[in-house]
Amino acid sequence: MKNLIQKLVESIGPSGYESAVREIVRDEVAPFAEEIRIDALGNLIVRKGSKTKSGMRLMLAAHLDEIGLIATHIDENGFIRFSTLGGVRPNNCPGGRVRFMNGVEGVIGIERLENPDRPFSIEQLYIDVGAASRQDCPIKVGEVAAFYRPMLDLGGRIAAKSMDDRIGVAVLVESLRQLKKTPHEIYFVFSVQEEVGLRGATTAAFALDPDLGLAVDVTLTGDTPKGVKMEVALGKGPAIKVRDGKMLSDPRLVQYLIETAEKAKGPYQLEILEGGTTDASVIQITRAGIPSGCISIPCRYVHSPSEMVDYNDVQNAVKLLVTVLSNPIHLG
Ligand code: CO
Ligand code: ZN
Repeated sequence: MKNLIQKLVESIGPSGYESAVREIVRDEVAPFAEEIRIDALGNLIVRKGSKTKSGMRLMLAAHLDEIGLIATHIDENGFIRFSTLGGVRPNNCPGGRVRFMNGVEGVIGIERLENPDRPFSIEQLYIDVGAASRQDCPIKVGEVAAFYRPMLDLGGRIAAKSMDDRIGVAVLVESLRQLKKTPHEIYFVFSVQEEVGLRGATTAAFALDPDLGLAVDVTLTGDTPKGVKMEVALGKGPAIKVRDGKMLSDPRLVQYLIETAEKAKGPYQLEILEGGTTDASVIQITRAGIPSGCISIPCRYVHSPSEMVDYNDVQNAVKLLVTVLSNPIHLG
């Protein structure tokens, strides 16, 4: 699975520009899918199974897009000013390397700060692609880029840009691969534009009108020096989301996921995330409402160029998901 993860995290797909990542996923799922379609926004929707008497129509979601940058102005010396696509934090930028969709790479520089103790903003940063003038600059206003780093394999743990949410994408692909038999009609939705407001999942959920929604995405951890106060830690298993900034998971689904994890003898932890959310929050309030939840992969340094996950958590997430999908689901 590490090869698949590497392929996914080393491709570039900022919000709205997911086509390269989508092509990789489409090739990976094709041998296992019963139906594949791409909707008007670009969501890749893959069906497996048909609804039996004991089954449900399920929508699973993992987002293809990653946070990115968009060129807003090129100055006369060829330096590119930019704004953001999604939650790019200024602190994670200086010295970073970026790659534009046309393959041009550059580094992020920062103006000399009047007061280095004060926080700085995105407006004080620029991208240097090695151009000497505006005429010489291979990037035009409106072109988009993402952080670029090769994946770092530390053995048990792996770090890369866009683990949020390529790791969720990898979990869905691997679960689809491993799933032998299911009573459910399952839609694996590889969604677009999550980082700019959960847009792809919003339209996909409306179209699919599922009985149950489940996102697979990353969550923060509380296990780093002076980090956020949070129980979730790397290596203690996939996290079953209880709540986040925009969603209270359906408590019956939380309970069902806990029982399933225990029956499968897999580790799990419970997630309470104060800020941030996932595609599940919009699936839940689609149409007349859909019971929804989320399986989260614990991840350090989310929205930085080096997001870190534990490989065992990833495999245990697949194990949990495959178990859930293979059996009838009973909600309280
Ligand atoms: Co994110
Ligand atoms: Zn995400």
